[in-house]
Amino acid sequence: MAGSSFGSVFRIATWGESHGGGLGVVVDGCPAGMSLCEDDIQIFLDRRKPGQSEFTTARKEGDKARILSGVFEGKTEGTPIAIVVENTDQRSKDYSNIAKLYRPGHADYTFDEKYGFRDYRGGGRSSGRETIGRVAAGAVAAKFLKGLGINATAYAKAIGPYTVPDEKVDIRYAAENPLCLADPETYEKASVYARELAAAGNSAGGIIECVIDGMRPGIGEPVFDKLDAELAKAIMSIGAVKGFEIGDGFKAASSTGLENNDPFRMVDGNIVKSSNHSGGILGGISDGSQIIFRAAVKPTPSISSPQLTVDKDRQETDITIHGRHDPLVVPRAVVVVEAMAALTVTDLLMRNMTARYDKIKNFYI
Ligand SMILES: Cc1cc2nc3c(=O)[nH]c(=O)nc-3n(C[C@H](O)[C@H](O)[C@H](O)COP(=O)(O)O)c2cc1C
Repeated sequence: MAGSSFGSVFRIATWGESHGGGLGVVVDGCPAGMSLCEDDIQIFLDRRKPGQSEFTTARKEGDKARILSGVFEGKTEGTPIAIVVENTDQRSKDYSNIAKLYRPGHADYTFDEKYGFRDYRGGGRSSGRETIGRVAAGAVAAKFLKGLGINATAYAKAIGPYTVPDEKVDIRYAAENPLCLADPETYEKASVYARELAAAGNSAGGIIECVIDGMRPGIGEPVFDKLDAELAKAIMSIGAVKGFEIGDGFKAASSTGLENNDPFRMVDGNIVKSSNHSGGILGGISDGSQIIFRAAVKPTPSISSPQLTVDKDRQETDITIHGRHDPLVVPRAVVVVEAMAALTVTDLLMRNMTARYDKIKNFYI
């Protein structure tokens, strides 16, 4: 399938379907000599693993990562790193009733229009399980970034109408609750809301916020491959993500130039901004402040309430979806957002190596 690779220097190709033998990724372009082991990847995969709370699908998958190539004696070799995760808890018969039906909000109809047929078991390649390869590769990128003092952290900023106020964002709390929400008070309300919707055969969406710390200024390409444009593509490529904004995002449209510009100041000999409406990027290039962006995630399309639809023979009918599904996509997508952010930044850092003749000369001469 075309379009399964991402990045240009630090490049990944993901493969696998929800109910096939397994899923994985090939990471090409990771420099040699970085320490890497399966545990580095497992920590990330465990955060997206299903069956961990009432807010995620009951599908039980160990999601154990195996590194097949590219690592020798605990260090990357500079060769392609292949990572595989086997599927072990498929129940494909759960999907036999939808083989000919188009589930509203899913990619069933559009896959059929494009390819003429589709793997209807769990959505095939359009399943949330496709994100395993992204998260495994993201773990490699995160390790790379950690060595440079750069760190991406994502958390749930909102579930349905319940939004964490900016001043209350508590990243440590987000890592401890099943919704990944960054504030205990918001969690109390949002968990009741999500539970009630699920019990009524319905679902909720939300907002994921991601901050990237430690980015020096000067990273990103100035025209088509702007850092914010690449982040937008990376994040919008995640299933169920319907919106992306950086810094003040859509709010910037109703503010004034004086409000929206971030004044520059000198602090300890460094150029800093005294606010961060830009979200850490100016002209597609990192400006040295924290990068902050948000992704809007739609409600899980698989809901148990009856819905109107049509079948492959173009007959109108209705559909009731069985099987195991995430009542909310947000908690499981948080680590996917973090992974895609890490991959994007890693790729642009690598691309930046060729930006300046003086640096190239310093390296080679
Ligand atoms: C991590 C993750 C888990 C997901 N889990 C489910 C799920 O259990 N049930 C479901 O209906 N959709 C789930 N989705 C969303 C669908 O994959 C997605 O909405 C669908 O393929 C249609 O694509 P679109 O929403 O991008 O248009 C999940 C998405 C992600 C990223």
